[in-house]
Amino acid sequence: MVYPILLAAHNALRWLVLGSLLIALGTSYSGWFLARPYRSLDQLLRIIATSIAHTQLLVGFYLYTQSPIVSYYWKFSPDTSQSSEFRFFSLIHMGLMVTAVVVMTIGSSKAKRQPTAQQTFRTTAIYFTITLLLILIAIPWPFSPLATRPWIRSF
Ligand code: HEM
Repeated sequence: MVYPILLAAHNALRWLVLGSLLIALGTSYSGWFLARPYRSLDQLLRIIATSIAHTQLLVGFYLYTQSPIVSYYWKFSPDTSQSSEFRFFSLIHMGLMVTAVVVMTIGSSKAKRQPTAQQTFRTTAIYFTITLLLILIAIPWPFSPLATRPWIRSF
């Protein structure tokens, strides 16, 4: 009962993860290139983006323990000739997403310890760009060659 609800939430949260990340990236690059001061709004956007990603990570961990696809993979180790989805969700999706959120968390905490506004913007921009690329690769887009899932899922 909880699984389908959290799967739909995980699907929808992906859009919040991407949206908040893009907004935080927009303010970081604009701050960096325009050499403006670091405002409390920049910090707030960075913290909101990181918190949404952490929430998605927690939902992902729950799904990982309950997913029939993941448990089938660990029980029977199916090869990719059967379906690449088993390996995708059990290893690739999980591994890349955890790495992405770790990179984001390190970037966010490094950013706040930088001595100048420019360095804070630059650190956020670089770490969050790497995070975005990893997330974009690991999402099961409807056009992904690895595993496909719908753009949205109803509760
Ligand atoms: C920023 C991080 C993440 C994003 C954007 C993301 C995105 C997604 C999306 C869009 C789906 C498809 C949902 C659907 O079927 O409608 C999905 C499925 C899934 N994700 Fe994530 N995910 C993230 C992190 C994680 C993490 C860290 C884990 C595991 C530790 C995880 C485990 C899973 C599992 C198990 C499924 C479902 C497999 C099934 O169909 O049973 N996700 N994820």
